[in-house]
Amino acid sequence: MKVFRISSPDSEQVDIVAEMLRNGELCVIPTETVYGLAANALDESAVDGIFRAKNRPNDNPLTVHICDSEDIDKYAKNVPDSARVLADKFWSGALTMVLERSGSIPPKVSAGSPTVALRMPDNDVSRAIIRKSGVPIVATSANRSGSPSPTTLSHVLDDMQGRVSAVVDGGDLELGIESTVINMLTNPPKILRLGSIGVAELESVIGVVEFDEKSAPASAHKHYSIGKKSVLVSGELDKFREYTESFKGDFAVLCFDGEESFFSCPCVTLGDKSNPPEVGRRFFSALRELEKLDVSTVFMRYPEDDSPISLAVKSRLMKTAENNFVEL
Ligand code: TXA
Ligand code: MG
Repeated sequence: MKVFRISSPDSEQVDIVAEMLRNGELCVIPTETVYGLAANALDESAVDGIFRAKNRPNDNPLTVHICDSEDIDKYAKNVPDSARVLADKFWSGALTMVLERSGSIPPKVSAGSPTVALRMPDNDVSRAIIRKSGVPIVATSANRSGSPSPTTLSHVLDDMQGRVSAVVDGGDLELGIESTVINMLTNPPKILRLGSIGVAELESVIGVVEFDEKSAPASAHKHYSIGKKSVLVSGELDKFREYTESFKGDFAVLCFDGEESFFSCPCVTLGDKSNPPEVGRRFFSALRELEKLDVSTVFMRYPEDDSPISLAVKSRLMKTAENNFVEL
């Protein structure tokens, strides 16, 4: 497995990774959200390889990553005007749109569905790799299925070492939370996953949208699991502490900066509570730190504000906790 550090989209190493992808090899590429496990969408065994490398259930479709807004019409058909308006406003960026799949994308990519998810990542090097490959590229978060997404090189190596041909090191990523996914085929459009682009921002461009994460494919599977009993607890810090102290058993706490001294158990911090972008960037590292602790239970503080990133973090924490939510 090769690790590339590519500082410019003009680097010769872009051609090397692009060629590996074209030839059916699996490569991890950075995006502004999380690292993506990428493959040639036209190569059936490469697409199968993605599902195997992640141990991903095959009812969960993959996203086609594009390098140009114009590619929307290569891979999707009957594209609604509202999708074009969203593409103009938010691409390149953390928005994935579900559209009607065109014949150029094999059904396997979309788990047999007549739809396709498209996203243009805001990362020059990855867009250059996609462009140079000359083929449609699918990518999915480069984690083992069910685990937290990877936002650092070391997360990627922990999950993908030996399973891929190459990793492009993009350092610690800018947003740290996966893209907002919106299904543009319903009226109103439905948000299937919250990311840093929130409901109000979308509605200011295309009018009413709904949030319906239960209609997302594979929503019944485990997501963001840390392999421990996890409880998401909303309430004031002192009540939270009392609640954890009454627990008989070993536990750790996921809290915010400055709160660690309230607890005598192991603590992992999500960062500065008043700085949601920082919390977003820290989020998956924090989950992975919790995963490594030798405790059976984790109590997690609930971000109380309703900024788009905090809402995205809350919906992911709910999945980690498997809906185990306590309001004090
Ligand atoms: O930020 C991101 O979106 C990252 C980076 C690597 O681009 N990718 C990512 O991929 O998070 P993945 O596979 O972990 O999540 C994609 C989500 C999944 O929930 C999947 O079910 C949904 O998008 N999705 C993909 N294709 C779809 C389709 N045709 N219809 C409905 N949902 C789809
Ligand atoms: Mg994922």
